[in-house]
Amino acid sequence: MDRLVGAGFYQEDSGEAHIRPMLLKEYIGQQKVKENVAVFIQAARDRKEQLDHVLLSGPPGLGKTTLAAIIANEMARPIRKTSGPAIERPGDLAAVLTNLEPGEVLFIDEIHRLNRTVEEILYPAMEDYALDIVIGKGPSARTLRLDLPPFTLVGATTRPGLLTAPLRDRFGIACRLEFYSAEELGEILLRAAGILNIKIDESGAREISGRARGTPRIANRLLRRVRDFAEVKGDGAINARVARLGLEMLEVDEEGLDNLDRSILTAIIQKFGGGPVGLDTLAAAVSEESDTLEDVYEPFLLKTGFLQRTPRGRIATPRAYNHLGHPVPSILGEGHLFAEED
Ligand code: ADE
Repeated sequence: MDRLVGAGFYQEDSGEAHIRPMLLKEYIGQQKVKENVAVFIQAARDRKEQLDHVLLSGPPGLGKTTLAAIIANEMARPIRKTSGPAIERPGDLAAVLTNLEPGEVLFIDEIHRLNRTVEEILYPAMEDYALDIVIGKGPSARTLRLDLPPFTLVGATTRPGLLTAPLRDRFGIACRLEFYSAEELGEILLRAAGILNIKIDESGAREISGRARGTPRIANRLLRRVRDFAEVKGDGAINARVARLGLEMLEVDEEGLDNLDRSILTAIIQKFGGGPVGLDTLAAAVSEESDTLEDVYEPFLLKTGFLQRTPRGRIATPRAYNHLGHPVPSILGEGHLFAEED
């Protein structure tokens, strides 16, 4: 996790920083997003214009921050990083905006967590590069407009649905990052292993990438942990056998599910009769925050078909019963019981 410093600016300390790609051509996967972004960057550069504001959405760990840094780099512009919860008051954001260098990229992570009064400062800033300051109160209040340097806002969110319409509408470019295929994760792993001087063969990379939940951050974390096993229990090189052993010790199963994933599915099956169960009730049953469940765990369980969302709550699918070794209730064997939630 990045560490917040001073007025909410980030300093990287995750060990991920130096293996992150710096250029679009080094960025693996997300083909459609990459192609589009490359066009928009080239067009802005050719016209010597500021790149339009960009909204990046998708589950955690898929490379939103990495892509923001690449956008700045490809535009040959500096980047300043902060996050929604770090900007508490309108004055905090005004200070950030007035300190931007002309052309700078401002990255706001978790932008859906900006509070409303702060968000309203962003509207004229994004639209007209202007800061509206209200002086005084009541009938005698006046608005003073300050010019801002041109900038590109790159917002990242795991929950695009929580953005207000006025904010969402002010992004000229919106990109949705998807889970990566196992092949793409394998490539990402081999690239990271090369940079980190980790010996790994293709079968080892395949073993890890197949269990990394479609997420580069998880793949790279598993790579480091499996390297520890390889060094202590083997000769330091990662092959399929060592990777399997390491992943077993880490309790990551063949589908990439960890303890909490299994607890979630087990709770639905054993405590709530297979569901439907509401998010908050489920979160309490596994002692986790509802937001974490919804943002971090659910997207993968939904995508891989272990979990289904219905208007009345979450249900475990036959796949979940099979995976956890529970008999599938006959009523579930007959197809989908409930309609998908909107
Ligand atoms: N490291 C993390 N995400 C990556 C990606 N998409 N491509 C290459 N390296 C990465």
